[in-house]
Amino acid sequence: MNVLWRSAVRGGFGRSVGFSLYSTAVPGVGERTLIAVKPDGVQRRLVGEIVKRFEQRGFKLVGLKLLQASEGILAEHYHDLRRKPFYPALLRYMASGPVVAMVWEGHNVVRTSRAMVGDTDSSQAKPGTIRGDLSVHISRNVIHASDSVEVAEREISLWFHTGELISWETSDQCDLYQV
Ligand code: PPS
Repeated sequence: MNVLWRSAVRGGFGRSVGFSLYSTAVPGVGERTLIAVKPDGVQRRLVGEIVKRFEQRGFKLVGLKLLQASEGILAEHYHDLRRKPFYPALLRYMASGPVVAMVWEGHNVVRTSRAMVGDTDSSQAKPGTIRGDLSVHISRNVIHASDSVEVAEREISLWFHTGELISWETSDQCDLYQV
């Protein structure tokens, strides 16, 4: 019997059931993704709004920093786009001011955060998504989100040292162990 079921049975399917996705017994719950609020998002004071959306969705913040991205980190981050016509403008934009880089953790966080962020082209992004609500043009689309688990791992190790990431237990996880 896994942690969730032990907890549910002893707790009479009470409060613990609602927190089932956070049981460490659920595969993929430790998935992580890189989210970055781009310079236009920082300039427009959208950091709090964006953090709020990820917290309210139920993801866990495990890394956060404000930084002026170097040419080196941006060149590596956007390496696959280096032959795109917009590449020089993209790098200039990403270096134009500070970025807030974050690592969020949770079940299916990569796929879910891409859905929360919305279409790359802001004009196509649906209302309710971050880009659909907060931006109007692809060249100023407010936020970056890793597009696969493999890419997320690479991007997290590019933007963060291991010691900058904190593994911590949410109180809802602790509840599962108290029974
Ligand atoms: S592509 O062309 O399909 O490979 O690009 P895409 O996957 O849609 O987007 C990759 C990143 O490039 C940014 N992008 C642009 N920036 C500026 N101008 C234009 N025209 C443009 N087109 C795409 C896009 O925002 C993606 O950046 P990230 O940081 O990954 O969101």
